[in-house]
Amino acid sequence: MLPLDTAGLQRDAREHLLFHFTDQSVYADREIPIYTRGEGCHLYDTRGRRYIDGLSGLFCTNLGHSYGAEVGAAAAAQLGELVFTPNWYVAHPAAIALATRLAELAPGDLNRTFFTSGGSDANEAAYKLARQWHAHNGEPGRHKVISRRVAYHGTSLGALSFTGLGGMRAPFAPAAVPTHFVSNTNAYRHPLGDDEDAFCAALLTELEEAILFELPETVAMMIAEPVQNSGGCFTPPRGYWPGVREICDRYGILLVSDEVICGFGRLGAWFGATRYGFQPDMITFAKGVTAGHAALGGVIVSDRIAAPFAAGELTFMHGLTFGAHPAGCAVALKVIEIIEREDVLGNVRRNEPLMRDMLESLREVPIVGDVRGAGHFWAIELVKDQATRETFDGAEADWLLRQVLSEELADAGLLCRLDDRGDPVLQLSPPLVADMELFAETVDIVRVALRNAAKLVAAGAGAVLTTAA
Ligand SMILES: Cc1ncc(COP(=O)(O)O)c(C=O)c1O
Repeated sequence: MLPLDTAGLQRDAREHLLFHFTDQSVYADREIPIYTRGEGCHLYDTRGRRYIDGLSGLFCTNLGHSYGAEVGAAAAAQLGELVFTPNWYVAHPAAIALATRLAELAPGDLNRTFFTSGGSDANEAAYKLARQWHAHNGEPGRHKVISRRVAYHGTSLGALSFTGLGGMRAPFAPAAVPTHFVSNTNAYRHPLGDDEDAFCAALLTELEEAILFELPETVAMMIAEPVQNSGGCFTPPRGYWPGVREICDRYGILLVSDEVICGFGRLGAWFGATRYGFQPDMITFAKGVTAGHAALGGVIVSDRIAAPFAAGELTFMHGLTFGAHPAGCAVALKVIEIIEREDVLGNVRRNEPLMRDMLESLREVPIVGDVRGAGHFWAIELVKDQATRETFDGAEADWLLRQVLSEELADAGLLCRLDDRGDPVLQLSPPLVADMELFAETVDIVRVALRNAAKLVAAGAGAVLTTAA
């Protein structure tokens, strides 16, 4: 292998890359992180420094970095056989095999898959399916969507419409799809959050009121994640999902479970819907289906929704060249095989209670307000005051996350997410093959960083800095 031209990579990245969701001014006086190699649950940068892949890239590298050769061989075999044929009018064996496999893994009668290239376009496809299906049933007026606050469902204009993050939507307003946002399942910030049943009842009442306000005959679908990522791993209260399902049924609204993160094992089951015991009309997926080895996504559709399309009464007026790319499908089939062979779901299920206990022990740090999550999907909410739950807002959160914690954690060798799209959280979402030794090391790094940050907060450093700025 050629020696790395570290300076050249830095220069060319600065001159030629347009980063996603990145304020590039942060790189004016610091290096762009450039990772060149992965092994197990670790990444290595251009200088050979090692990092724990604590967010699985972006909730993608569920098998870590050691199966690349095996998965790559499956992709190479596929490309040696057939490079490409679309899923428009025609089919190929890898797409057929993967769709068949997904029908076996998905709950209930979710038996048919429309493939996309990623998660945003999976959610767009779900919406278009819902629109055409309702119109076919004599309800063309059903065009609105119910989504949840702070939820992230993607960036293409339809998916962005369902994304409950004002800052992301603002530059592209007005939204392409009229969407009504209801509360998410953030128990920590809800007045009834300490009483699980009352909290659940309040959320369901709010959902029903929103539907009635919008007029049920104008609502096409509700979209939500089994555990909401954005805002920090909001798990559902007991009874929430069956309740949502029942309300959607009562008003003829289709329920879409966005499993772009939750699907393929993140919660210890193939799908979050299975774990929480509800039957969606559609499941959207991406990321984990290939464990990050290739770009692929899709929508798994119930027999009821698929029926008019399958019978030829309706033509789905939507298509993507690279939906069901043969290499992506071959990769996904191999990844599913490895997940089963290595009992990856079992690993997640066994780790969950141990991870919870370890993370709960962080409550001894004065700025840890809440610990929540499931499977290999966790968030720690940071607060100024544990008793009052006062949050760090605006510039303080920015200081804490971006000036204090991000460098300290990276210097200590941990990649994770520091997010203040809702209240500030630190998120950990390790590869599904990670063991408890790695997680213990992760939690140790987090503990030291949070303790140091807590000392700075107690000394008023953030307030001084943010006032000075
Ligand atoms: C829940 C959820 N839905 C949709 C998306 C969009 O997926 P993609 O980035 O592949 O378009 C994401 C991406 O992070 C996501 O987390």
